[in-house]
Amino acid sequence: WGPGRAAAGATGAAGAAGAAGAGGVGGGQRRRPEYVPGQISDPGYVRIFDTTLRDGEQSPGATLTSQEKLAIARQLAKMGVDIIEAGFPIASRDDFAAVSQIARLVGNETDEHGWTPVICGLSRTKFDDIDRAWEAVKEARNPRVHTFIATSEIHMQQKLRMTPDEVVASAVKAVEHIRGLGCSDIEFSPEDAGRSDPVFLYRILAEVIKAGATTLNIPDTTGWNMPSEFGALIAKIRDNTPGADGVVISTHCQNDLGLSTANSLAGAVGGARQLECTINGIGERAGNASLEEIVMAIKLRGEDQLGGLWTGIETTHIAPTSRMVSEFSGMVVQPHKAIVGANAFAHESGIHQDGMLKSKDTYEIMSPETIGLVRQDDAGIVLGKHSGRHAVRTRLEEMGYPLEGTALDSIFERFKDLADKKKGGVVDSDLEALVTEGRGNEGAVWEVLDAQIVCGTMGLPTATVKMRGPDMVPRVASAVGTGPVDAATKAVDSIVGLPAELTDYRVNGVTEGIDALAQTRIVIAPLQDSEATMTSQGRRRLQEYSGVGSHSDIVVSSTRAYVSALNKLINALKLRQEAERSAAAEEEEAAGVPAPAAN
Ligand code: KIV
Repeated sequence: WGPGRAAAGATGAAGAAGAAGAGGVGGGQRRRPEYVPGQISDPGYVRIFDTTLRDGEQSPGATLTSQEKLAIARQLAKMGVDIIEAGFPIASRDDFAAVSQIARLVGNETDEHGWTPVICGLSRTKFDDIDRAWEAVKEARNPRVHTFIATSEIHMQQKLRMTPDEVVASAVKAVEHIRGLGCSDIEFSPEDAGRSDPVFLYRILAEVIKAGATTLNIPDTTGWNMPSEFGALIAKIRDNTPGADGVVISTHCQNDLGLSTANSLAGAVGGARQLECTINGIGERAGNASLEEIVMAIKLRGEDQLGGLWTGIETTHIAPTSRMVSEFSGMVVQPHKAIVGANAFAHESGIHQDGMLKSKDTYEIMSPETIGLVRQDDAGIVLGKHSGRHAVRTRLEEMGYPLEGTALDSIFERFKDLADKKKGGVVDSDLEALVTEGRGNEGAVWEVLDAQIVCGTMGLPTATVKMRGPDMVPRVASAVGTGPVDAATKAVDSIVGLPAELTDYRVNGVTEGIDALAQTRIVIAPLQDSEATMTSQGRRRLQEYSGVGSHSDIVVSSTRAYVSALNKLINALKLRQEAERSAAAEEEEAAGVPAPAAN
């Protein structure tokens, strides 16, 4: 790859002049250029557009509640992501509510450097989609609507059944419609651009620029392109599309051939200054370009190999964000995944260990600390039953979980419990399991106080569960089942009264040894009041809720996981009812019905 090309819409000279070293990424060492739609004042600056909450959530098996989406969005903002694609608001009422909440809250929160991320909503070129997307994002300080239509022959003929002229007209009308709504930050994507005729791309892109698009995103929707081919496509688009020098060009690379990171970087070298990606690379089919890979490649090699590219990402937030997304989405990170896999900083062979002991640079091209991991033995603290609140708080903070107040109290209580049982001391993965169980469960409605399960080959598995609900009154119920987990969930159902179908169940030993913590993840689908969601690829799926529990007894950890998933379902139903009530009130107000008098 050659040196980077001048950024779209950039002013000043291209290249690396004045660029800070690898450490210049984020962390306040370089000033991020002010956000202007379609313009970047620094030619080497690359915007990071995170689509974990939209494309990432389209991963088969991944499912996030509104609360989890909000927590992830906050974490992305903390990391310094430039644009957060918060969802596909037309997909369902829950999607709409989640995007609006993120726009209202995260889209107006400013970090210590004065930065607020752009909040983006996806839409097809249909006006209904666009109206819904704009409605959802418009309260953000910097709202963006992203609209797309397919441009490859196969998609236009087989899927859309539209002529190229009709596709151009639809794209132009969509962009004009978005502008007409008052939105000045407009992204357009020619879906399946990687397999589209470049000459047709120049035409449709020129037309949408004239209509008001400010970012042109070039998706390799099927992961078909080779890096040299994709980099050249971006360069050709820049050179041949009238008006392209007044907008930002973006990449969106799927990973079907495992080339999404390479293609995104090649696109940046070709002139793209926005890269779309997801945490842990989750997404449709084989996933998307992974944020951590793109960002770390640019951080480490941007200066000497990529013509001076840099991003505004604070990389020490990468590891905690990766864990959060993995826990919430249930998409387990493979151990040998670049940057964030469990083995990414593990050295097994004798020769490697010898090298590491002499100098860490022998086998590590980045330190784990750069991505927010602190080696437990380097921290010099061994946590056990005599450890105090301060030591636990410090270790949690080093691990990227700055907890205070009641959140810390409840982790500390569970830590003490565990430390009493665990002879070898409490390790990072134990602490992480405790944090995970609590996370996303804020505003919990039901709590498991005690559980007693009898099982084996003699007699029916029987569970007795003691729980406390919103009225704080303890309740006890027993049930029999086909197995211990079935018995426990039935006992819970008889107390909570909101039966759900268990659609996925996984149990994981968090640490080694007989006294290890077991972490259980359960996914449920409500039996009543279930709502279907549509993905941007037109796939229909039922809204599901996941919960995580941990305990040294796997049935107790399963019961906690089930109750945590039920709590999320209950909170989602409450949010939906509130949204329905306020929509009805707005309709009544519009119709001139007087509001009931307050008493
Ligand atoms: O893969 C794709 O083409 C997309 C677009 C909507 C950007 O997700």
